[in-house]
Amino acid sequence: MKLLVTGGLGFIGSNFVRWSLKRYPTLRIVNLDLRTYAGNPANLKGMEGASRHRWVKGDVADPKTVDRAMKGADAVVHFAAESHVDRSILDASAFLRTNVVGTQVMLDAARRHKVRRFVHVSTDEVYGSVEAGESVETDPLLPNSPYAASKAASDLVARAAFITHGLPVMTTRCSNNFGPYQFPEKALPLMVTNWIEGKPFPLYGDGLNVRDWVHVTDHCRAVDLVLRKGKPGEIYNVGGTASLTNKKLVGLVRGIMGVDESLVTPVTDRKAHDRRYAVDCEKLRALGFRHETTFELALRSTIKWYRDNAWWWRPLKNRGDVKTYYKKNYAGRGRA
Ligand code: NAD
Ligand code: DAU
Repeated sequence: MKLLVTGGLGFIGSNFVRWSLKRYPTLRIVNLDLRTYAGNPANLKGMEGASRHRWVKGDVADPKTVDRAMKGADAVVHFAAESHVDRSILDASAFLRTNVVGTQVMLDAARRHKVRRFVHVSTDEVYGSVEAGESVETDPLLPNSPYAASKAASDLVARAAFITHGLPVMTTRCSNNFGPYQFPEKALPLMVTNWIEGKPFPLYGDGLNVRDWVHVTDHCRAVDLVLRKGKPGEIYNVGGTASLTNKKLVGLVRGIMGVDESLVTPVTDRKAHDRRYAVDCEKLRALGFRHETTFELALRSTIKWYRDNAWWWRPLKNRGDVKTYYKKNYAGRGRA
């Protein structure tokens, strides 16, 4: 099979590329990625000479580039997106272009090229904050951040491509991923790398927001299952195995790393900070999905990975554009 993966230089996309090539010895992957601030060839270190993988630098919102990259593809897995909520609060423009226009361009090209399967990778954030219970796939979309709104819009254009044109699109909506190669702007890698550096972790608000953590490899397995066995037009929630308040997560990581409580600084909350996400995963389980990782073990191995791979994250944190972003996002917050 020839697979077109978008966003394969990012956190989840690069884990997916590695995992898939290992799992399927004859699979070939074209990886279309613009290499934005979050796209990093180092995420695929060791695979530079791999004959079954080819990185094409380009924008998913550019029809000509997408057309070239999609030639001969049997299927598409669409990860490429602007993915960080805090950045969308500072400036939403790139989110609308990549996440909404980019998805439409991808869907149009998939139709022209008659691809047999298209997985659109989305997020549990499209349901908005869930005070109690679990979101099911038919729930209304009530996104609260510009990021979540752009992803909800992309889910709707994917739905329309199926309804209008019969394009065989499946959508996945996953909860919070963790694992190696996650950009050190997201909570977990920021926390772990700050503590390795002896710096505090800025905890938003009262720290009681709940997130459901899934190891990135389990997410990759879920996407692959939906790619192969999902029903066109359907949406599949993908949840984790650890629903935790941020305070609880901070406590667990502090315990594993042996970090003092003084290295947690409560800061002013994120705007429109969703209190809780929770998804019902019955549909995915009915396809045969089971988690293969245990949260506690996966958390320990992830922390060890960041400890052992400072070569990967240190240059990112020291980059001028990333320092500027940290300043913009954290400077005005003060202590909560
Ligand atoms: P990421 O920010 O780490 O990576 C995004 C990748 O997309 C980067 O390699 C970047 O260069 C590329 N990209 C961005 N704009 C592009 C464009 N216009 N054209 C081509 N490539 C472009 O993101 P991630 O955390 O790996 O998330 C991947 C996908 O999974 C996203 O669609 C996100 O919404 C979704 N998702 C993420 C999580 C999570 O916890 N990280 C959970 C659920 C769903
Ligand atoms: O739920 C799936 C989503 O998970 C994905 O769609 C997004 O792409 C991904 O970024 C993630 O969004 P969150 O906003 O939940 O993740 P983040 O790592 O940014 O934050 C996790 C929690 O930690 C959240 O409640 C905010 C909090 N936080 C985050 C940062 C960056 C802090 O307390 N301090 C911080 O500095």
